[in-house]
Amino acid sequence: MRMRRKPWARPELAACPYFIDEPQTLRGRWAQAFSRPQPVWLELGCGKGSFLTQMAEAFPGVNFLGIDIKSEVLAVARRTLSARFEELGRPVDNVLLTAYDIERIDQILSPQDQVDRIFINFCNPWPKARDHKKRLTHPRWLVKYQQFLRPGGELWFKTDDDDLFLASHRYLGECGFVLAYETRDLHRSGFSQSPPTEHERMFTQEGIPTKFLIARWPGKDAGGSRPPARAGEAPSPAERE
Ligand SMILES: C[S@@+](CC[C@H](N)C(=O)[O-])C[C@H]1O[C@@H](n2cnc3c(N)ncnc32)[C@H](O)[C@@H]1O
Repeated sequence: MRMRRKPWARPELAACPYFIDEPQTLRGRWAQAFSRPQPVWLELGCGKGSFLTQMAEAFPGVNFLGIDIKSEVLAVARRTLSARFEELGRPVDNVLLTAYDIERIDQILSPQDQVDRIFINFCNPWPKARDHKKRLTHPRWLVKYQQFLRPGGELWFKTDDDDLFLASHRYLGECGFVLAYETRDLHRSGFSQSPPTEHERMFTQEGIPTKFLIARWPGKDAGGSRPPARAGEAPSPAERE
């Protein structure tokens, strides 16, 4: 997502009570950073926060953590959240935002953090084979998420991209996730629990259907784990990509 420079972005985030500037310091202790102990749902690459805002409004009994690498988009997310909650007459008390590279997510979330649900919405499809390992649903990343995703927890994924959707199916299966739901056209499916994101609105206007799936993580003890290839061991087909 290319954005114009926003000189107000960093000062506004710095003054925001629900923006976490040093997320590494909360590793293993995220539950204490929220105002109430309740389930945690994590959005990876939350962008301008439209999805996060709608979900946080609809589920006050859930704590949300929104992560994006770009402070400039998070600053827009902050404005969207604050404006909507002001309209509702509610403080933003079930959301935390942080700017971080998901590649290093294991440095901010640990097995103690027990996330109940992960959302990945319209991540970059990285179409070239040599870039597939950069996809947020690639096994290289899934094994990291499994460290903090609670057994029985779910990954909700949507995309406009057919190839990425097919490949993600395979990646999830290879890593021991179990498919719980899928549709090739979310808006015609009758499934109403996944509000639109900024990119989803854009692709929908272009007539591109949203592909959507829910994959459940049974947990390592339920035989769900397929450990990543160790040195000297052949990687799976997906990891080879
Ligand atoms: C294509 S946009 C989608 C935004 C939003 N989820 C939506 O559906 O409208 C992808 C978002 O992921 C973020 N992103 C990409 N790679 C990332 C990474 N390694 N760590 C954190 N955020 C990342 C980008 O900054 C961008 O905001």
